[in-house]
Amino acid sequence: MFSATCVAPVNMALVKYWGKRNEELILPINDSISMTLDANEMSAKTTVAASESFKQNRMWLNGEVVPFEENARLMRCLEGVQRLALANGDIKFPLSWKLHIASYNNFPTAAGLASSAAGYACLVYTLARLYEIPMNEQLTTIARQGSGSACRSLHGGFVQWHRGAADDGSDSFAEQLVTAEHWPNMHMLILVVNDARKKTGSTKGMQLAVKTSTLIQHRAKEIVPRRIKELRTAIQERDFKAFAEITMKDSNQLHAIALDTYPPCVYMNDVSHAIVNFVHDYNESVGSVQAAYTFDAGPNGCIYVQAENVPRLLAAIQVAFPNDAQQSVEYLKGIPVPPVELSKVATNGSAGHVNPKNMLKYIIHTKIGEGPRQLSDEKSLLIDGLPLLK
Ligand code: DP6
Repeated sequence: MFSATCVAPVNMALVKYWGKRNEELILPINDSISMTLDANEMSAKTTVAASESFKQNRMWLNGEVVPFEENARLMRCLEGVQRLALANGDIKFPLSWKLHIASYNNFPTAAGLASSAAGYACLVYTLARLYEIPMNEQLTTIARQGSGSACRSLHGGFVQWHRGAADDGSDSFAEQLVTAEHWPNMHMLILVVNDARKKTGSTKGMQLAVKTSTLIQHRAKEIVPRRIKELRTAIQERDFKAFAEITMKDSNQLHAIALDTYPPCVYMNDVSHAIVNFVHDYNESVGSVQAAYTFDAGPNGCIYVQAENVPRLLAAIQVAFPNDAQQSVEYLKGIPVPPVELSKVATNGSAGHVNPKNMLKYIIHTKIGEGPRQLSDEKSLLIDGLPLLK
């Protein structure tokens, strides 16, 4: 039996991917840029084992059996990596050997945080390690076919996914713009919003948008190319103000397009809008742009903030969004934050507005991170080809 175990990070887009020009190959209508998050707080971990004795391909996700060969996206990733392995030559076991795959997310999927990006990136990266294929650009074109945003999770730091022009998708790949060391104090507070409503997933939402929104083509052709250029410069220059403005405007535009979809897709809720108001008021009250929100296809608010500004921002959030569990480790997850005297927290103006209690489920404090990595065999999630009970 041969096996490999790896972890891969989540990424959060700044200029969003929204809309496909080819559904099957997952080719986007516009470029996107994301930041990779530290795998310590949120990541997928996957073991892939190949053995002559396995009768069939099998997969477990968070301990539950999931379909394998019926999953077209999964099969496309597997076939893509196997094609690369063949081209590489020198394979240490036959490609006909069946696989057992176990994968876990170290964060609750119920929180509605993007798990497919980390999951597919981890799958492709682990398969590549198993078949001994070195990390290369082509792997990102394969992960893209699992879930579009997954291609960006194969790199650390800031990453651009190029839409490409070729019909076969060969030039629609993810490129690392800068490593995490370039802007090491870039942190994020994820405000997980209490919300039980069922949502239109990203795949369906963007499909409908391409079909019915009259704004989406204008965004893809006119707005995004300009924003990509400006954001690349802001990242190069570590210009937080420019970075923040582009990020917040692009999040707002994604949700404007969701509303311009017919019937409309509503991802943000009242709490999300309260977070938006809070961030603008906070920036005004501290006299400079220190926080930038972004929202994916759900109500949770992700706030970019530089490390030195985290304690004060967090304290202001605690005042504006009071919670009964405020001081518990279950409520404040991730990197610890030194406490701040409440008297030092800016609450002048409307940043002092206090929302009703318990609107947030919990907060995760994380930061910019590296790309996927392989773990030692002792960290395997499979024993004799069967998943470990966790
Ligand atoms: C709002 O990558 O989940 O997070 O390609 O259909 O699997 P599929 O969609 P997915 O879409 C992510 C959309 C987004 C924005 C982004 O990550 O750029």
